[in-house]
Amino acid sequence: MTYINEHYLKLTGAYLFPEIARRVREFSIEDPQAAGRIIRCGIGDVTEPLPAAVIEAMHKAVDEMAGRETFRGYAPPTGYEFLREAIAAGDFKEHGLDIDAEEIFISDGSKTDCGAILDILGEGNITGVTDPVYPVYVDSNVMAGHTGPAREDGTYGGLVSLPCTAENGFVPDIPEEKLDLIYLCYPNNPTGGMISRDQLKAWVDYALANDAIIIYDAAYQAFIHDVDAPWSIYDIDGAKRCAMEFHSFSKNGGFTGVRCGYTVCPRELEGSTKTNARIPLHGLWTRRWATKANSVGYIVQRAAEALYSDEGRLQVRRLVDHYLGNARLLREACETMGLTAFGGNNSPYVWVACPDGLGSWEMFDRMLRRANVVITPGVGFGSCGEGYIRISAFNTRENVLQVLQRMKDMDRS
Ligand code: MLT
Repeated sequence: MTYINEHYLKLTGAYLFPEIARRVREFSIEDPQAAGRIIRCGIGDVTEPLPAAVIEAMHKAVDEMAGRETFRGYAPPTGYEFLREAIAAGDFKEHGLDIDAEEIFISDGSKTDCGAILDILGEGNITGVTDPVYPVYVDSNVMAGHTGPAREDGTYGGLVSLPCTAENGFVPDIPEEKLDLIYLCYPNNPTGGMISRDQLKAWVDYALANDAIIIYDAAYQAFIHDVDAPWSIYDIDGAKRCAMEFHSFSKNGGFTGVRCGYTVCPRELEGSTKTNARIPLHGLWTRRWATKANSVGYIVQRAAEALYSDEGRLQVRRLVDHYLGNARLLREACETMGLTAFGGNNSPYVWVACPDGLGSWEMFDRMLRRANVVITPGVGFGSCGEGYIRISAFNTRENVLQVLQRMKDMDRS
């Protein structure tokens, strides 16, 4: 007999996006004519080609791999120096933040990092997750055995839900109780909300006072337009002692299919043993990568480096502006139709209250059947998401204009 990891059996449902894909497939079989018209604004997957600077860098790297003198084998476990230096300079030093290359760890994306980080964080942490939440934080904790069983309402023992509602501007209130680990994501997935500097400072102060660690998911950083908003959690004094930051090249560089991201683990950041010994996470995280991975391919790392060149940055700006333009159009159209909408200004997601008292999945069905548009039901991100849908602005302008037209037609019918 081979025993399995039984924690997987605690998972209450299918992962959200494959479940949406399953429902769309079923509908396509039922109504093959409508299937050809479907526009996908569900999962936040990019539609625009890779920036020219990236393509050029990839071609060059492929050529290097073709010659014995320039060929590369295993990459350093935490990433090539050239990429880590480019990130430290472009994402931190330029913004006045003191993060160096040694504190940067390259990976094949944030989703991988969400699971991997639990290798070095122990069981028994009281973990705060926002509701609604990117489901990967929750499911990866369940899989790692860091939660209790599922409760009636679909939440899990050991996880403390931090409600994010229209009333609190989608930023959770500081809890009364003591948490050990907190997941925050800003610009927020799924609500599109942004956190202010004061609000983030309150969370950093809370973490320092409670000896807690914040996992700050900054995957949508490139979409920050508000000049007063915090660029990084390290904008806040003391954050290097209480926070790791997760980054992705998926949404700024269009790398959803290329796969590359990174984490920041400052040297000052410490966890604790059960006997209260203080242990720097940096050493554990380094060891984790050295043992369990061989980083990301050379070609991909050169591609990511190209995002930091002068042309690369301009091209990224254009991509991000394109998606933000879509988001603005979507949000304005929702508002014109009398819908209550949030997000879309510092984020590629628009979070919309369902009309007519509809639940999220009912609205999902209405959009799919009447407009042939796929959105994400808010409840899929947690119970506080019930009564909302998330519309992704990752699409061509042509498709977004089609979506607007179809929503208007649906509204009139
Ligand atoms: C989303 O749609 O929430 C994201 O694209 C999912 C992801 O990045 O894994």
